[in-house]
Formats: sequence, structure tokens, C-alpha cells
Amino acid sequence: MDRHTVEQELAPLLVDLALTAKQAHWNVSGLWFRPLHAQLDELADDVRGWSDDVAERLTTIGVAADARVETVAKTTPVGSFPSGFVESARRWRR
Ligand SMILES: [Fe+2]
Repeated sequence: MDRHTVEQELAPLLVDLALTAKQAHWNVSGLWFRPLHAQLDELADDVRGWSDDVAERLTTIGVAADARVETVAKTTPVGSFPSGFVESARRWRR
């Protein structure tokens, strides 16, 4: 994989996944609120750490990390998370 491909694939993920996990963490509601809220917070922390790894690897290969909001919004492959509260499953289904 060449430097340009790495930049195209990894750079847009720098901030978006962490912000999306936080959006879900803040707005999950319903029966499964507590475990999902806690798990999504852990995920946001993990993703923030991975983002730092990605940014530092990009700079190591000579690509400037770009986590500016406008860049991430324009280039992210991650779909939009719903706005407002997001209801967790009301009951367990088998
Ligand atoms: Fe929180």
C-alpha cells in the first residue's frame, strides 16, 4: 500500500469514529441505556487512542495528519449517525 492510499484510507477516520461513539454514548436511551452508555464511552476512548496511532503513523511516513472538522466531514467514509436520542432495544429477542 503506498503513502497516498494510506492517507486516503486512514486520515478521514482520525476524528469521526471517536465523535460518533461519543454521539451514541450521549444519546442512547431505553432499557439498555446503562451498559451501552458505558461500553460506548470505552469505545470512544479506544478509538481516540487508535486515532493517535494512525496520526502518528501518517506523520512517520511523511503525510501530515488532518483532523480538521471540515476535512473529516468532507472525506469520512462513515455514515451519518442519527440525531437525537437513540432508543436501545426494548426487550431481548431470540
Ligand atoms: Fe460520558
